[in-house]
Amino acid sequence: MGMKFQIRNACWLGDDAWFHHGTISIANGRIMKLESDFASDTPSAGEFIVPGLIDAHVHLREPGQPYKEGIANGTLAALKGGVTTVLNMPNNVPPTASLARLEAKRALFAQKSRVNYGLFLQARIGGPRAPESAAGVKIYMAKSSALAAVRDPAALAQIFRLQNRVVVHAEDEREFSTGWKKSFHRVEKTGEIFHSVEKSFPQCGKLPHHLRRPRAAVVAALQSIATAWRRVPPKERPRLVIAHCSTVEEIDWVRKMKRQGHDVWAETCPHYFLFTEQDDRARGPALQVNPPLRTEEDRAAVFAAVQDGGIDFISTDHAPHLPKEKAADSPPSGIAGLEWFGPVLLTLTMRGEISWQRYLKLAGQKAAQCYGIEGRGLVREGAWADLAIVANKPPAAAQEKIVTRAAVHPYPQFEFAVGIRATLVNGRLAWTDGRVRPGVHGREVYG
Ligand code: NCD
Ligand code: ZN
Repeated sequence: MGMKFQIRNACWLGDDAWFHHGTISIANGRIMKLESDFASDTPSAGEFIVPGLIDAHVHLREPGQPYKEGIANGTLAALKGGVTTVLNMPNNVPPTASLARLEAKRALFAQKSRVNYGLFLQARIGGPRAPESAAGVKIYMAKSSALAAVRDPAALAQIFRLQNRVVVHAEDEREFSTGWKKSFHRVEKTGEIFHSVEKSFPQCGKLPHHLRRPRAAVVAALQSIATAWRRVPPKERPRLVIAHCSTVEEIDWVRKMKRQGHDVWAETCPHYFLFTEQDDRARGPALQVNPPLRTEEDRAAVFAAVQDGGIDFISTDHAPHLPKEKAADSPPSGIAGLEWFGPVLLTLTMRGEISWQRYLKLAGQKAAQCYGIEGRGLVREGAWADLAIVANKPPAAAQEKIVTRAAVHPYPQFEFAVGIRATLVNGRLAWTDGRVRPGVHGREVYG
């Protein structure tokens, strides 16, 4: 600790979205001084430095299912992706739904996390208010842990009243099984429909994921959320985040709420603007995720919102399952994209599909603002020295050594323009040239 050093001849993406060339001085884990000799609107040809990314939605499955992905391995994947802060979801086994469990999980992260972290509490009726030391509460409107889903407007309103920050998985599970059973029975009864379904999905013999969890589930969830929101007096409403937006309906709803001045934010994940239900069908369980991938129209609406600010920030929803679990008859849902997070977003930006200004917001600044994370997400004097060093030499997907225990590359066709060469967490080199520096580098982002 107490280390002082300089990075000379650096090129870094500043908080003004310009690339600055000069010297970065770091002391005690923070950026003490930025001396910019000149600035340009594109990065230099060699290496450049960006703020360490913030991934506000990951499922590191410790405690409970460390065989799927524990804290040490999950945060190693983060380092490879240029991610220096993760916010971890509460659908553990058992779920993080009490203050005692939250404390136990904090102790585990303090022992093991290679990156900075914050934790969510799972919301339940009669559950506690999330303490200041938590990112907020997560509401599951579809069952995702041992706890029952929270779906009714009355229940939602109760949680809205009690909490300050709420992130919601907006799929009402009541639309799943009935919708699925209805179509399934129709399929069984009428040869004609069966024939067409069978022709379209011969390998499954059952409805594809996006029809088992139809759009109607998202629409119903938004309706209940809106009803609950109206029932709660404005002063008692929380900040509301719609997690992993995947449909035109969510994008439109959040845009409307923002226009009306509500404290409503939108998150999406790379898979919702890179893939559609066609890809899901083509690649099978690898891209089976909740909420499901949807149509080209949805994908385009999500990406338009990424570009224009309708989406506030991007997260991975890193949801690892073992290859053998994904190969089972009823595979679990989830895509594990944490180790490609930086390279994906940076490549899109380098291609000109996202502006550098938007990049800064999407990759950390807005998540930090939304969840009250101080001193992270931007390269500026006084901030923590959470930095990703980007190189123009991306690893070829086929040769890459995959870190996540999910062991599947979600974006094998994506042409990466860059890779992460090194990652610094709180001013300490934590990962470089494919090698990890052992040790706990992260700290809790609250308190
Ligand atoms: C999540 C998981 O595996 O924890 N999966 C996913 O597809 N996003 C849980 C969930 O949100 O259903
Ligand atoms: Zn999730």
